[in-house]
Amino acid sequence: MPVSVLFVCLGNICRSPLAEAAFRAEAARRDLDVVVDSAGTGDWHVGHPPDPRARAVAVRNGVDIRHLRARQVAAADFDRFDHIVALDARNLADLRRMEPPGARARLSLLLDHVPGREGAAVADPYYGDDRHFDAAWGDVAAGARGLADRIAAESGG
Ligand code: 4NP
Repeated sequence: MPVSVLFVCLGNICRSPLAEAAFRAEAARRDLDVVVDSAGTGDWHVGHPPDPRARAVAVRNGVDIRHLRARQVAAADFDRFDHIVALDARNLADLRRMEPPGARARLSLLLDHVPGREGAAVADPYYGDDRHFDAAWGDVAAGARGLADRIAAESGG
């Protein structure tokens, strides 16, 4: 059975599509069987492709996110996914408010999976420039490695 992971940020056009792509690439490198998606807590960008600056930083790091389209997180996601991973503390608080009782998904913050960075946010690069998107990529790539370590350990690999 694949392990399913949903990454959640605010708009689903910058950080969570990058996290989705970084984690999918990391899982492929390790031959981990995963199902990966991303969503936003907000609805402003539903149906939109990722921000051009996010598409550019993805290309600089060897992944293509052009095909992704933003969607809003839904109550059903809490039963569809094993892990729902928030990009910052506000996203996590919003998810905790939505969480149905007895939900299947385990909630966490992406950087909780990076030793020494527990509790830290992937800073929102939306109002920033390419340097902020490069920093966001560094964070999501580190988080993807840490989360892949945890999932591999839990599945006995
Ligand atoms: P994201 O970035 O949450 O990383 O996708 C943002 C995208 C859009 C907005 C804020 C953050 N916005 O306010 O529209």
